[in-house]
Amino acid sequence: MSALSFTPATTDRRVSDEDRAAILAAPGFGQHFTDFMAFARWHAGTGWGEDALIPYGPITLSPASAVLHYAQEIFEGLKAFRHADGSIWTFRPERNAARLQRSARRLALPELPTEDFLASLRAVAAADEPWVPEPTGEASLYLRPFMFANEDFLGVRAAKTVDYYVIASPAGAYFPRGVQPLVVWITDEFARAGTGGTGAAKCGGNYASSLQGKAEAAEHGADEVMFLDSETHTCIDELSGMNVFAVTSDGRLLTPSLTGSILEGVTRESILQLAADRGLEPVEQRLVASEVVEQIAEGTITEMFAAGTAAVITPIGELRARGGSWTIGDGGSGATTLSLRQELTDIQYGRIPDRHGWLTRLA
Ligand code: COI
Repeated sequence: MSALSFTPATTDRRVSDEDRAAILAAPGFGQHFTDFMAFARWHAGTGWGEDALIPYGPITLSPASAVLHYAQEIFEGLKAFRHADGSIWTFRPERNAARLQRSARRLALPELPTEDFLASLRAVAAADEPWVPEPTGEASLYLRPFMFANEDFLGVRAAKTVDYYVIASPAGAYFPRGVQPLVVWITDEFARAGTGGTGAAKCGGNYASSLQGKAEAAEHGADEVMFLDSETHTCIDELSGMNVFAVTSDGRLLTPSLTGSILEGVTRESILQLAADRGLEPVEQRLVASEVVEQIAEGTITEMFAAGTAAVITPIGELRARGGSWTIGDGGSGATTLSLRQELTDIQYGRIPDRHGWLTRLA
C-alpha cells in the first residue's frame, strides 16, 4: 500500500487532440511532454508528502537551490506500452524503484518506497492515457522519474528538502537514424566514471561527464562513444547512456561485468535472461577493448549492440578508435541482435506471453 496518492489536479491546460495526434505521429525522443506530472516533496524529519498530480509546466527554483550547485540529483527511465486491448503496462518497474533507491543512497538523497514509486507511475499513466501511443509501431510513453536537492543552502551537505517528479514524453527511436547500426568511437581520453565514484548510480552527473566524449565521437563521424575503465583505460565500461553487448560465433553473449562503475541496466539484466532462455551462454566479464577488436577482425565476435530503456537494443556496425576501425560482421544489423530485440519488444507490447512476469499494469 502506498502512502502517497498523487491526487489529480483539475486543469484546462491540456494539449489539444489535434496537436497531440501530430506529436504522436512522429514523437522522436524526449522532445514533447504530456499534460501532467507527479510531484512529492521530502523534508528531513517529516519524510515524503505534499504529493499531487499537477499540470506539466515549469518549475520555479531559487538560484541558491542546492541541485544547481552540487548536482545532488538522480533519475530513472521506464516506458509505458499500450497493448492491443488498450491496457497500459510497464516493464519491471520494481527494478527501477530499487535502482532509484540505490542511486538515492549514493547521492545522499532520501529513498522513495517502491509502492510510492509505482503509485507515481500509475498516476501519470492514468492521467496521460491519451498520450500512450497505439501499439501499431514501436512507440511508447517514456516515463522519467527524477529527484533532486531543493534546499536554498550553499554549504556542502545532504539537502534537507528534496523534490521528486515524474514527467512523461512520447517516444519513438532514441537515435535520430532509427534502429540502424551505430558507429561507436572508443575514447582513450575521457572516462565516464571512476572507482568509488558514482558510475553505478543513475545520476545526472554521469551523463554530463559523458558529453565531451560524445562530442569527440561526433568529430570522428561516430554516433556514440564507448568509455573504458578509468584505472587502466583497457576494459569496456559502457556507452553514454547504454550498456554494451557482443555476440560470439561460438554462441556466447558477452557484456562487461558490473564493476561498480557501470549502470545496472534493467534492459541489460533482461537480455541476459532472454539469452540464457534461448541457449546463448550469457557471460559477464571484464571485456578488454583491444581483445574485442581483435575478435571482431578474426570473426569470432560477429555482432555487437547497445541496450537500454531508451535505446532498447540498437545494433553496432562499426567500432572506431585512434588506432583504426573495425566493421562488425558485415556492418549491418546482426540476426541475434534483431531477434533479441523482437523478443524483448514482443514481451513489452504483450504480443507474446510474459513468461518471467516482467510486466506491471499501469492503467
Ligand atoms: C534510458 O535508457 O532510459 C536512459 O535513461 C538513458 C538516456 C540516455 C536516455
